[in-house]
Amino acid sequence: MKKDSASLWTAVDRYFGDLFAPHDAHLDAAIKANRAARLPAIDVTPLQGKFLHVLVKMTQARRVLEIGLLGGYSTIWIARALPRGGRIISLEFAPRHAQIARANLRRAGLLRRVDIRVGPALASLPILKAEGAGPFDLIFIDADKENNPRYLEWALKLSRRGTVIVVDNVARHGNVIEAKSSAGGIRGTRRCLEMMAAHPRLSAVALQTVGVKGLDGFAMAVVLR
Ligand code: SAH
Ligand code: DHB
Ligand code: MG
Repeated sequence: MKKDSASLWTAVDRYFGDLFAPHDAHLDAAIKANRAARLPAIDVTPLQGKFLHVLVKMTQARRVLEIGLLGGYSTIWIARALPRGGRIISLEFAPRHAQIARANLRRAGLLRRVDIRVGPALASLPILKAEGAGPFDLIFIDADKENNPRYLEWALKLSRRGTVIVVDNVARHGNVIEAKSSAGGIRGTRRCLEMMAAHPRLSAVALQTVGVKGLDGFAMAVVLR
C-alpha cells in the first residue's frame, strides 16, 4: 500500500489517536456541538489535546492560563488533567464561542474548574495581573496569531521560574518560513518565535506536527527565572 505523505501522516495520526486519545461521549459531544454551531474547525486535534493533558500532568500544573477558548475542546483536555482544586482561566473574544464552550464544559462536568473571561485577551490580561491571578504553571497561547508577541510578553509577566509556555500553530502548513509575508498571523508568529528563541528568561524549542490538521507545530518554552 503506497500512500502520499499527507494521507500517511493522517493515517498514523489516527492510529496514535485511537490508541492514546480515544474520544468519550463528552469529547464527541463537544466537537459535534462546535461543528453544529459552525465554529471554525480549528480545535486542537485529539492527540494535541492529549499532549496538553500530559503536559499538565508532567508539570503538575494547578493553575493554567489559556488564550483562545473557541468551543472549549482543548480546555476539556487540560481541565481533566488538573488536580483537585486546580483551575484553568481561558480568555475568549467572542461571546458566542464562550457560550458554546460553557455548554460543552458543563456537559463534561468541568465548568467548576474553568474560569472564562470574555473580551479581547489584551484587555483581560492586565486585569488578571491586577487581580494577582498569576503566576501560572502552564500557559497555552492559541488565539489571534498577530498578537502572539504581546501574548508572549504577558505570559512572561504572569510566569514564575518553571512556568511552561506553549504556542499553537507555529508552522501553519509551512507558511511560517515566508520571511517577507505580509499576513499578520505569519508575522506575529515569526516575531513570537524570534522572541522565544532569544529571550534571556526562556529556554525554548519549536516542533513540527503532522496529522489530521496537516502540517503545523508547537513552540514551547520553560521560564528560567
Ligand atoms: N484552544 C481552542 C482553539 C482556539 S481558536 C481549541 O483548541 O479548542 C482561537 C480562538 O481565539 C477563537 O475562538 C477566537 O474567537 C479567539 N480570539 C481571537 N482573537 C482573540 C482576542 N483578541 N482575544 C481573545 N480571544 C480571541
Ligand atoms: C487557525 C487557528 C488555530 O488556532 C488553529 O489551531 C488552526 C488554524 C486559523 O486561524 O487558521
Ligand atoms: Mg490553534
